Amino acid sequence: MSADAWWKNGIVYQIYPRSFQDSDGDGIGDLAGIRRRLDYLVALGVDAIWISPIYPSPMADFGYDISDYCDVDSRFGTLADFDALAADARARGLKLILDFVPNHTSDRHPWFIESRSARESPKRGWYLWRDPAPDGGPPNNWLSHFGGPAWTLDEASGQYYCHSFLKAQPDLNWRNPQVREAMFEVLRFWLRRGVDGFRVDVLSDLIKDELFRDNPANPAFVPGENPLLQLLPIHNTDQPDMQDIVFEMRRVTDAFSDPASSRVLIGELYLPLPRLMHYYGRNAEGLLQGVQLPFNFQLVGAKWLPAEIDRIVREYEAALPPGAAPNWVLGNHDKPRIASRVGPQGARLAAMLLLTLRGTPTLYYGDELGMADVPIPPDRVQDPAEKNVPGKGLGRDPVRTPMRWSGEPNAGFTTGTPWLPLGEGWAEGNVEAQAQDASSMLTLYRRLIALRRREPALHEGSYAPLAAGPEVLAYARAHGARRLVVLLNFGATPAPIPSQLLGVDAELLASTHADGEASLHEGRMLRPLEGLVFASAPA
Ligand code: GLC
Repeated sequence: MSADAWWKNGIVYQIYPRSFQDSDGDGIGDLAGIRRRLDYLVALGVDAIWISPIYPSPMADFGYDISDYCDVDSRFGTLADFDALAADARARGLKLILDFVPNHTSDRHPWFIESRSARESPKRGWYLWRDPAPDGGPPNNWLSHFGGPAWTLDEASGQYYCHSFLKAQPDLNWRNPQVREAMFEVLRFWLRRGVDGFRVDVLSDLIKDELFRDNPANPAFVPGENPLLQLLPIHNTDQPDMQDIVFEMRRVTDAFSDPASSRVLIGELYLPLPRLMHYYGRNAEGLLQGVQLPFNFQLVGAKWLPAEIDRIVREYEAALPPGAAPNWVLGNHDKPRIASRVGPQGARLAAMLLLTLRGTPTLYYGDELGMADVPIPPDRVQDPAEKNVPGKGLGRDPVRTPMRWSGEPNAGFTTGTPWLPLGEGWAEGNVEAQAQDASSMLTLYRRLIALRRREPALHEGSYAPLAAGPEVLAYARAHGARRLVVLLNFGATPAPIPSQLLGVDAELLASTHADGEASLHEGRMLRPLEGLVFASAPA
């Protein structure tokens, strides 16, 4: 097996640690809880887990505001709990990916406290400090992702500091070599503890325009939308100098790769396709020296129409630099859940799509149960994105609710009061119940994952689009002489199974419908929202 096989051919599973499994009754998930559930993940069939931030944090942005990069928040446990989790994961052959948050620290991080203490502070240049504009206002018009200006005045020193997110999340100055070295040392700290890679938070934003120029107005802005979209963020995101930083980061992780297993970098990048491809970091010799997996979020925002998805997949495939590893994502802790976007049956079709496309799939915890967004009563809202810009649907609490394990109180998530409500439907829609049910979403996920693992055509084969009518997304995956055909009917009416695509004696390998395998007969149509995978016999 090649050193990179696990992240190229494997499956990544995202755990939002606050919501996975609580072990001490405080209503918040923790590392010991994750450790207890490793066997579930092995049985599911995933290869790697990515855990959202576990570091000490005031939790203004639930762990994405870090006050110490080299420790574990007491709510999640201790470094010893981390080591025990890592050892157990390793013993089960599961790779462990941590979240690296390089763009900003917490305002309680000692670096920022020091930086803020005086203009002459040796750490002043570790953050982005600017004098006020002539009128005393912010230095430029940049906006925070969580509402309002990206600048806050520090009264004591009379300067503003930049924060792309909350004012409690000051942006680091990545043009400063000391910052780079300190942050690379953070990577090494965790690499020495045996982690297999990092998901890098808002990778595109680390470097800002050196002249701090105003962003231009967005001519396509529709009043009433998310106010962030008023400006085109051309001066505070995806700057040309980013490439060097990505190369440096990669050199740090590569130094810990060994012939049996390479370390991986996965970049959080919401960028147009051509820009996204830059983060693979293809140099003049054609070598890929950037992040191995720039997250491909196109399905997360896609119009759920077969022609649209067909276009997305073709364009993505065509845009990939030679040798680059593709990847696909259906959901994460920031975006509405797939089951809420496309409905319960649509989510089964989406699962088949994700697990049969060419490229590393990333699953979001709970999607394998068909979990939908949980409505959050106003008095239980936690997310600053909702609190600061209310009513625009920006709140992420609905997608971060507790994992549903069993029919026990609080679905087996906690013996205390869960930090977010469980919502409805968990008494039936939990792991224990679904594991017994041949027609459940969990059973479908397990089957599709097993099929993907078993079939080289699916985990490392080629991809070729096929034409099968307006409502059916169709493609072939092939490896050597083995050829699989995937047919996904997005329509509300039956669609013919195009036998010319399948050849004679095609074998049905998987269906989104629980009875699918049993009912293949002459004249059989794809039912509404049905997906099928065939092994097509050689012509
Ligand atoms: C990323 C994270 C998000 C967080 C933000 C600020 O987009 O995914 O959850 O709020 O960065 O760190």
